[in-house]
Amino acid sequence: MSAQIVYLNGSFLPLSEARVPVLDRGFIFGDGVYEVIPVYGRIPFRLPEHLRRLQNSLDAIRITNPHTTEVWTRLITDLAERQPWSNQSLYVQITRGVAKRDHAFPKAVTPTVFMMSGELTTPPKEEVENGVKAVTASDFRWGRCDIKSTALLGNVLLRQVAVDAGATETVLFRDGFLTEGSASNIFVIRDGVLLAPPKSHLMLPGITYDVVLELAAASGIPHQVREVTERETFTADELWMTSSTKEVLAIRELNGNPIGSGKPGPLFRRMHALYQEMKAACAAGSPVAANAP
Ligand code: PDD
Repeated sequence: MSAQIVYLNGSFLPLSEARVPVLDRGFIFGDGVYEVIPVYGRIPFRLPEHLRRLQNSLDAIRITNPHTTEVWTRLITDLAERQPWSNQSLYVQITRGVAKRDHAFPKAVTPTVFMMSGELTTPPKEEVENGVKAVTASDFRWGRCDIKSTALLGNVLLRQVAVDAGATETVLFRDGFLTEGSASNIFVIRDGVLLAPPKSHLMLPGITYDVVLELAAASGIPHQVREVTERETFTADELWMTSSTKEVLAIRELNGNPIGSGKPGPLFRRMHALYQEMKAACAAGSPVAANAP
């Protein structure tokens, strides 16, 4: 197989040749932001939305966006076209750049821009049909979880809690309220109503989260964006996790206790089908898969 092509600071090159100096602030401080963009049929899904969130993350950490939306679109499409896979998970990372170690922002520094794309591995049929296990933990992360920062130590430690328990995800609570998962957003279904925690500094504003709420609105699924308590989560009829790579997945068990019937529920099956339709529309190049920029 030919070498995987990545993008680094203006060049497309084989992954094995991509090098970043050890004084890059991404390496030293985790001083950077990122995006993960699903690509279906070599077409990036919801690209304007991902680029808008990237802009928000850059603004929050005061890095000037190195490219316009047009240039990003061209570079990302170009990278996707250079890969052997039709469906991909495309990663974009921008760090503050390379400078002598000092916490304060360096005066004149050029951001490091790195992109790679791998084959998108969505959950296997067995997980979609039977659901997955999750555990819970206290959300001990910082107060700016809305920034898609590469400094992911909190998320890494919390995700490992799930792995150590033989589960897929860790569902997080702060002060008795649901925030999100270690690498996903969480939805709760009670009495036929889809409940979503409101966006705040305490969770990542997921692109898939928005898609699920849009699909619910368009197909008449009752939904409410409001704070959800820990008790409401444990006694939910259905529990879902969403992300660009997991798409929509039902959680069948929380800390060893069944959620609802212990199987993916009827609303999950409906939402999963709607999401697959939207993916297919994206791969076919239909604009319904993207919002207006
Ligand atoms: N993570 N919350 C957290 C903490 C996440 O890391 C992610 C996604 C999400 C879902 O966001 P979206 O729907 O835009 O993928 C929510 C990506 C996939 C990752 O870090 O690999």
